[in-house]
Amino acid sequence: PDSVDANSSEKEWSASRRLPHALIIGVKKGGTRALLEFLRLHPDIRALGAEPHFFDRLFARGLGWYRSMMPKALTGQIVMEKTPRYFVSPETPGRIHTTSRDIKLIVVVRDPVTRAVSDYTQIISKTPDIPSFESLAFRNRSTGQIDSLWSPLYIGLYARHLQRWLDYFPLAQIHFVHGERLISDPAGEVGRVQDFLGLQRIITDKHFYFNKTKGFPCLKKPEGSSRPTAWAKPKAGRIPESTRRSFRA
Ligand code: A3P
Repeated sequence: PDSVDANSSEKEWSASRRLPHALIIGVKKGGTRALLEFLRLHPDIRALGAEPHFFDRLFARGLGWYRSMMPKALTGQIVMEKTPRYFVSPETPGRIHTTSRDIKLIVVVRDPVTRAVSDYTQIISKTPDIPSFESLAFRNRSTGQIDSLWSPLYIGLYARHLQRWLDYFPLAQIHFVHGERLISDPAGEVGRVQDFLGLQRIITDKHFYFNKTKGFPCLKKPEGSSRPTAWAKPKAGRIPESTRRSFRA
C-alpha cells in the first residue's frame, strides 16, 4: 500500500552517515570480530565491517573521510566500528576524546597468555620462518625474563594500556567483555554489551548455536539466507602447555 511505501522512503531519506557512538577498541585476538558480528544482528546497530584504523593510522585523512566510511544509519541507531589496535596505540585515547568525549568504548579481554599464543599462531601462519614462541618471548630463558616489547606480549599488558585511556575517559565509559565467556556464554556477554549501549536485549540465546567442528558459538543463519555466518576457522597449532606454564612462572 501507498502508506507503507511513503514510510519506507522517508526512513531511507533520513538515514545518514554519522560518526560512531561506540567503538570496539581492542584487543587483537580477544574475540573482537565475533563480538562485532554478533552485535550486527541488532536492528539498532549499524557497524562498519572493515577496520578503518582512523584514530591510530589514518587520522590525517580527517573526520570527513572517517564519517564517509560509516554505514548509513537512522536516527536512534548506534553506529560502531572496531579497530583492535586502538587499545595499544598511545595517540588514540586523546584523539578520540577530542573527537567525541561521550563515545562508548568496548574492550574484549582474554587471558593474556592465551592471547599471546593466539597472536603468535596467526603471525607464524603468515611468516612460517620466524623463531619459536619461547625464543621470542624470553630475553633470558633461565631467569624467565620476558621481552615485554615483543608485540604478542606487549598487547597483553592490559593495565598499562588502560592507564592511558583513564587519563581521558572515566572507567564507567569503558565496558570490558570477558573473552572466554564470549565463547562459553555469548548471549550473556552480548546481553551486557546491549545494556551498556542502552539497547534492548534483542540478541539472545536463540541466535547462537555451538559449532563443534569450529569449537565456537556461531550465529544461526537467518531464514532463507545462504550466506555462511561463521568466520571462525578451526584451531591451528598450539604452543605446548609446558611453555605456557614456564611463561606464567
Ligand atoms: P583464536 O585464533 O585463538 O581461536 P579477534 O577477532 O579479536 O582477532 O579474535 C580472534 C579470536 O576470537 C579467536 O582466537 C577466538 O578465540 C575468539 N573468538 C571468540 N568467540 C569466537 C567465535 N564465536 N568465533 C570465532 N572466534 C571467536
